Parts: sequence; C-alpha cells; structure tokens
Amino acid sequence: MAKSHIVKTVFKSLFNRQSETALEPVEKLKERLENYFSLRAFPLNSGRSAIYVILKAAGIGSGDEVIIQAYTCNAVPNPIAWVGAKPIYADIDPNTLNVDPKEVEKKITPKTKAIILQHTFGRPGPIQELLELAKKHKILLIEDCAHALGAQFSGKKLGTFGDVAILSFGREKVISSLTGGVILVRNSTLIKPIINNISALTPMPVNRTGKELLNFITWRLLLRRIYFNDSGHKFIRGLNSYDFFNVVTARKEMIGQRPQWHPSAMPNVLASIAIEEFGELEKYNEARGEIADYYQEKIKNPDFKLLPKHNGIYLRVVALHNEASRVLSVARARKFWFGNWYNTPVYPMGVDEKALGYERGGCPIAERAAEQTINLPNYLGMNFAQVNEIIDFINNFK
Ligand SMILES: Cc1ncc(COP(=O)(O)O)c(C=O)c1O
Repeated sequence: MAKSHIVKTVFKSLFNRQSETALEPVEKLKERLENYFSLRAFPLNSGRSAIYVILKAAGIGSGDEVIIQAYTCNAVPNPIAWVGAKPIYADIDPNTLNVDPKEVEKKITPKTKAIILQHTFGRPGPIQELLELAKKHKILLIEDCAHALGAQFSGKKLGTFGDVAILSFGREKVISSLTGGVILVRNSTLIKPIINNISALTPMPVNRTGKELLNFITWRLLLRRIYFNDSGHKFIRGLNSYDFFNVVTARKEMIGQRPQWHPSAMPNVLASIAIEEFGELEKYNEARGEIADYYQEKIKNPDFKLLPKHNGIYLRVVALHNEASRVLSVARARKFWFGNWYNTPVYPMGVDEKALGYERGGCPIAERAAEQTINLPNYLGMNFAQVNEIIDFINNFK
C-alpha cells in the first residue's frame, strides 16, 4: 500500500468538507466496484465479515457444513464457526496450493450447504469443476478472492463465477485500506437478505479505525526499521500483545470465537483509502507479477521448488523447500523480508485447530506443503537490485 494514500486521505477527511452532492466514500467505492465487476457490491470492514454476512444471508447455521480447503487463513473457517456451522476441510493440489476438486467431492454430504473456492495467492482455483459440483448438489459456491483482485480466468474476472464472492482489503492484500472487505453478488436471490443483514450493522468502532491509521504510520516511520533487530522485534511483539496494532487475528479468533467488530460497516475514511488504492490495481499487479516472472527465470537452486506459472496474479510467490524454517531464519538474519503464508494448514501458527474443526492428519498434502512453504519477497516498492540479492541468496543457499 502506498503511504501517500493514507496521508492524503486522512488529511482530506480532516480538513475537506464534502460538497452536499458528493457521494459518501463508501457509496463511491461501491459504485467503482460495481462498474468494474458488473455485479452488486457491498463494502464491509473485513473479508471475514463478508463471509459471515453471506452465510447469515444464505440461512447457513447450526447443523450445516461448509467445505473449504486446508492451507488457508483462520479468517475463512472462523466465520463458518461463528454462524454455528462446521468447516469441513478438503485437501489441496500440491502444484497449485488450491483445493483438489476430487477431495471436495468426497466431502459432500446432505449437510453441505456451501463450498468456498479460494484462489490461493492469486492463482485461479478449479472453477469449472466446482461450478459443476455446486450445480449438481445444489450447493452455494462462494469465491474467495481475498488474494485475487484483478485476476482473470478464461477472459472473465475472478469473483464473477460463483453465486457470490468476497474481496479483502486487509494488510498485505492486493490493495489495502488497512482493513476492509467486500461482498460481490451474482445470484440475485441473495441480494435482499444481504442488504437486510448489512443494514443492521453499526460502523466499526472509532477507536479501532483510529488505531489502524495510527499504527500504520508508526510502523512505516519507526517500527519497520527496528524489526530485524532482536530487541526491536521483542518490543514490537510486546506492543502486539497489548493490541497496539489491532492485531490481524484477535485473541478470540485464535480459539474460534467472534470479536464484536466483525462484522461492521466499512468506515468512510477506509473507503477513501480503498478508492485511491483501487486506482493503482493494475500497476500493483503488474509490479508483483514482473518480480514473480523474474524469479521463475533466475532461480536455479533445485532445492527451491517454484510452483508452475499461472495466468492469475501474484500476491505471493511460493517456493517449497524441505527446510523452510531454516531458510526463513537465515533470510531473516540477512534482513530479507520473506513471508510464511501459509506455514500451517490453518494460519497463523498457534490457532486452536480443533476449535476451527481441523484434525491433524486430515489433509496430509496441505500439511506437507505448509511445512515447506516460503514466500519469496515481491512486495510493492522492491527494486530489481533487491530482487537480484534475493536470487543470489537462494541460488547459493546450502
Ligand atoms: C484466503 C483468505 N480469505 C479470506 C481472508 C479474510 O480477509 P480479512 O483479513 O479481510 O478478514 C483472508 C485474510 O487474511 C485470506 O487469506
């Protein structure tokens, strides 16, 4: 995310009076997204809130099952648990890190009410296969485009295939308003119940929105600089434990419970940031994709298995390595920003997997992939001198 978008937006909201006729930022964002997708769009405060509202609107609850893939973020099974339904995990294809449709089929029972199709890290999931399964069994298909805004499949935008889809504008997403999410609706029978659910929501608490903005600025100006220093890292973790950062996964979510601010309406100040960011979507996706292509071309160390290329977008570039945690700690000592999405079948490490319905051994391919996962840096603002340093590091890693 661009720092200038935050600063510009905060100043605008503090000092600029809107003209009487101007659309409120949330309405303007909605309009932009509706034009882009040719679907109805409903902004909220997070992607997990979007999943929660969809499930509520579809009448999914106690006694129902929703199939998701293992190798995911807790933000996917959590809202399923919050409505009282059960997340059922299907194993993945190790070459794509997306769900294996044959595994989905095995998990369908009369209790299955929805399937969530996650386009992991921007790679299109098995759309045709899941559309067929959903149709055959009369199950709702929810596309999870938290990583995939701007990606296409067969010339059509991801998010336009399922009955309904979600986007996320959280930290480290394709575009970011610090926190934010959107529901996109294709199946018109869902529009009315979604509107009913959303109109009952209150805005996100002001102190949470304020803290999101404040900690972004503190992080950018100060804390990022001390991150690689051991005591600096401890200090940041200390701040985290006091919820200084509005941690991405609240303590309650670690054990499958719902914090009261999910779901809430999207605040206008965050919608304004999202609008600025949305204007940069293609530029961002191109920049990340260019680095991903360069890694494909230049990485020659056979211990780092890059996944096959694809035609989606590259929110993250994954290499699989048999000693991923050693690679990550050596990289950290060299002050390289490698990532660890997803180093566990239900991210982040330390969630109560049982509370989120995951049994160890249930999805062995996802578990193995998680142990081997490394995200190669392709963040915005990286220059090719830095990318070349990473490539040298990888090609010489023993
Ligand atoms: C695959 C996936 N789906 C959904 C979400 C939910 O997004 P949010 O963080 O906006 O609630 C995330 C977020 O981390 C995610 O990784």
